Amino acid sequence: MNRKYTDKITCDDCVSCLPFLEDETIDLFLSDIPYGISLDEWDVLHNNTNSALLGKSPAQAGKSAFKRRGKPINGWSRADRNIGQEYQDWVRGWAKAVYPKMKTGASLFVFGARRTLHRVVNALEDESFLLKDVLAWKKECAHHRAQRVSIVFERRGLAEEAEQWQGWRLGNLAPIWEPVAWFTKPYKIGGTIADNILQYQVGAMNVEDCLCNGSSPTNLLEFGFRKGEKRFHEAQKPLDLFEFLIKLTTREDQIVLDPFMGSGTTALAARNLNRRFIGFEISREFCQVAETRLNNVPKDHKPKNSRKQPTLF
Ligand SMILES: C[S@@+](CC[C@H](N)C(=O)[O-])C[C@H]1O[C@@H](n2cnc3c(N)ncnc32)[C@H](O)[C@@H]1O
Repeated sequence: MNRKYTDKITCDDCVSCLPFLEDETIDLFLSDIPYGISLDEWDVLHNNTNSALLGKSPAQAGKSAFKRRGKPINGWSRADRNIGQEYQDWVRGWAKAVYPKMKTGASLFVFGARRTLHRVVNALEDESFLLKDVLAWKKECAHHRAQRVSIVFERRGLAEEAEQWQGWRLGNLAPIWEPVAWFTKPYKIGGTIADNILQYQVGAMNVEDCLCNGSSPTNLLEFGFRKGEKRFHEAQKPLDLFEFLIKLTTREDQIVLDPFMGSGTTALAARNLNRRFIGFEISREFCQVAETRLNNVPKDHKPKNSRKQPTLF
């Protein structure tokens, strides 16, 4: 059954395809899922029609940055406060379909946003996965806008207040890291993790092949894009980061599942490491991008058992 889906990215809604995979066959789930923060159309995962997301409100006309970011976190109506719960329900829908497909003891790495990851954790726990850790992916740089309060007041003609609030800003600190929730499918009650490794070949960490600057890796993942690594997707992740997570938790020929492939980073990373992959992507445009990417990067293929150090910064 899996053959139809293996080593290709199926251009379809993962929720409708996941049930067709064979049970207990996936060795690793690695996915940079939509974060539910309205980054783009594909990231709006609620039915709140009063929403001003993606520039539908008159207040957003002509303001491109505002249009992209959508409404303030505070929300513009009571219904806006339900967006988190709707996101959690959406995650739970696909997590339920994923659970039977994972091997017992297998790992799941789920990328998320700092503001919405708790919804992902709740949803996966509700579907019986166990949270093992939350890793931090440290980015090379952070895009940051924090408006000066004094300028806001100056625009309102409040010169005295503007003076009093010199140096203060609105918003957040520069977002330099993103969380990666690490779950497992629990092994059998009464058994041990060692029994599970013997039976299912998953559940351990390949530390020796994942040394960072000669030392054991920590849960702070400092990986950047390779020199010349092209960008195809707004949410694209570095190949070295995904290769690290795949190498850490799988052996050659094991199967990596990513139901939200985007530009195909998981597929490329799996193929580079001689792992099999199963991927889904709902957008035809991104499917084509991923296919072109996979077809154009055969030279990236590393020899078996390569111990090359990744791009660290
Ligand atoms: C955060 S992006 C993944 C980016 C990817 N990690 C990369 O490096 O290019 C999430 C992707 O999930 C896709 N997506 C959203 N809902 C989906 C669904 N139900 N089934 C399959 N793909 C979906 C979106 O189109 C988007 O490209």
